[in-house]
Amino acid sequence: MKKDKKIIIANWKMNPESLIEAKKMFLGIKKTAGKLSGVQTVVCPPYIYLNELVSLYKGHRVAIGAQNVFSENKGSFTGAVSPNMLKKNKVDYVIVGHSERRALGEDNQIINEKIKASLRSGLNVIFCVGEKERDENAKYFDFLKNEILDSLEGVNAGSLKNILVAYEPIWAISNNSGGKAVLPSEIQEMVIFIKKVLSDRFGIKTKMPQILYGGSVNPKNTKEILEEGGVDGLLVGKASLDAGKFGEILKIANI
Ligand code: PGA
Repeated sequence: MKKDKKIIIANWKMNPESLIEAKKMFLGIKKTAGKLSGVQTVVCPPYIYLNELVSLYKGHRVAIGAQNVFSENKGSFTGAVSPNMLKKNKVDYVIVGHSERRALGEDNQIINEKIKASLRSGLNVIFCVGEKERDENAKYFDFLKNEILDSLEGVNAGSLKNILVAYEPIWAISNNSGGKAVLPSEIQEMVIFIKKVLSDRFGIKTKMPQILYGGSVNPKNTKEILEEGGVDGLLVGKASLDAGKFGEILKIANI
């Protein structure tokens, strides 16, 4: 049986400061990613670099994603970028629901509207979920379940193929954890839980979305997370800003 490609996503967040640096980082990543047939690489730079990076690559092994999007395609919304704008400018993926956007006030309802609008425009949605902390009574399972169900309200089962669920607990993101990722066995437990929530909601016969893990991923923990964590890919923040480190992650994922 043909092995599914691993999906490895670079979330550059608010980096780098210049187009020259962005191009250099992208070309460094492209050099490795373009050679790997077992990996779908997605680079998500700040908006200001999207068009330029799209023009630097014509193949399929590297795709470009945005880090955010607005929930409407038409209207007077100063500062907003619509799903159609992304799609028509060859941006194929968008991150929705990242905890750093939630911290700025985006709630499940806003995220739900963004997911639905993005799907309508034909974008692939990297839908981030994850608890802030773990409590002794395991209430974080309920939290995660509600986050998933509320954010996917009104989404139909057929659209799940265009959604990637990124499990990214806030406490494991490198800025909060000092670089400590979740243990692979715990990731696997959460992957099973997420699949159960989705199959209860969408039906057991529905093809499940791909499930990714994010939070302090680096070249040292990539192999064990991919092998033992039961994930289809990774969402990488800090380590994606270094083309060398990110290239190592890509090569490990290609095996
Ligand atoms: P990190 O970030 O890899 O630096 O932990 C991941 C993310 O926030 O998407």
